[in-house]
Amino acid sequence: MKTTHRVFFKDSYDMNEVESNSIDLIITSPPYPMIDMWDLHFSNSNDEIKQALEDGNGKKAFNIMHNQLEKVWKEVGRVLKVGGIVCINIGDATRTIKNNFQLFPNHVEITNFFYKNGFNELPCIIWRKPTNIPNKFLGSGMLPPNAYVTLEHEYILIFRKGKAKRKIPPKSEIRYNSAFFWEERNNWFSEIWEDIRGISQNLLKENNNQRNLRDRSAAFPLELPYRLINMYSIYGDTVLDPFWGTGTTSLAAVISMRNSIGYEINSEFMEFFKKKINNAKKLNNDINKYRLNNHIKFIEKYRKEGKDIKYKSNYYKFPVITNQETEFLLYSIKNYEENRNKFVIHYEKFSFNIE
Ligand SMILES: C[S@@+](CC[C@H](N)C(=O)[O-])C[C@H]1O[C@@H](n2cnc3c(N)ncnc32)[C@H](O)[C@@H]1O
Repeated sequence: MKTTHRVFFKDSYDMNEVESNSIDLIITSPPYPMIDMWDLHFSNSNDEIKQALEDGNGKKAFNIMHNQLEKVWKEVGRVLKVGGIVCINIGDATRTIKNNFQLFPNHVEITNFFYKNGFNELPCIIWRKPTNIPNKFLGSGMLPPNAYVTLEHEYILIFRKGKAKRKIPPKSEIRYNSAFFWEERNNWFSEIWEDIRGISQNLLKENNNQRNLRDRSAAFPLELPYRLINMYSIYGDTVLDPFWGTGTTSLAAVISMRNSIGYEINSEFMEFFKKKINNAKKLNNDINKYRLNNHIKFIEKYRKEGKDIKYKSNYYKFPVITNQETEFLLYSIKNYEENRNKFVIHYEKFSFNIE
């Protein structure tokens, strides 16, 4: 088995390299309107935004910023297959302009767009970020009524193109191989994610230079696209990220044996991505082991609680809770080739001995 990963360093207003109805899954995080770090980016893309910000007209700037993003959402609607899923990580913004504090609800604008343009909205995920900021209530005091609630979450908005679910042959082997564990399902399909830094914190050790670049890029943690890819696609599918950044979505696709396509205006991030690909084989093995060892621990606990287990994994020979997990199979990277921003990754079945 092999996958390919391509990046186009241009804006995603026009993704003419990608055929209509060809993409299985979109995972992305755009620049967040009305968050200071993206003001310059939005101002450069449209003079009216620059003017509105200078005039202190927050609502006008907010609206035009979303008009800019909608050009990309339209392309997303074109390239996605009917039944394909879009996952958008977005946070709202709070901002004081001319002494007037207010919330700019980015998730509402994006939801409205998809709702009105041929997509079905599905239940979203609240990504609650672990926070240890000691002064998070700074300035709110103890006297009512003029204090504000602290924003501590972002959204993962989820939409399906069209009304119908994607059609996959009922006994598709590859779909059964792409299964996740019962206990992973219970965690991943919960509406609040509080543990999202788990795998990446433990396994993605970054040096300081890389971390700086990551901060500047507003990258999401690897586990976010990794989970979404496992939840909403099968082996061999193609995942697209129109705001590619440092390529976290592609890295997650690489280690999940899915193909990927990215669009990004800043080519500076390629070097960072190449380093990550260079380490992807080890990362892939570590994540596979992490998942399988967690499963073994889960099974031991489940048994100690006196519960009965009926099924067994055909490949790994450990117990599994449901019939749907019996064909579960992981892959690991054998080697890869790179040619002008295109990566081809070769895989083999991942073998595992219970520790
Ligand atoms: C929030 S960051 C994405 C970070 C990414 N998820 C990661 O993990 O690194 C948004 C990215 O979109 C890029 N971008 C903004 N507008 C774009 C456009 N019209 N086309 C392509 N890329 C764009 C920015 O340069 C930035 O790297």
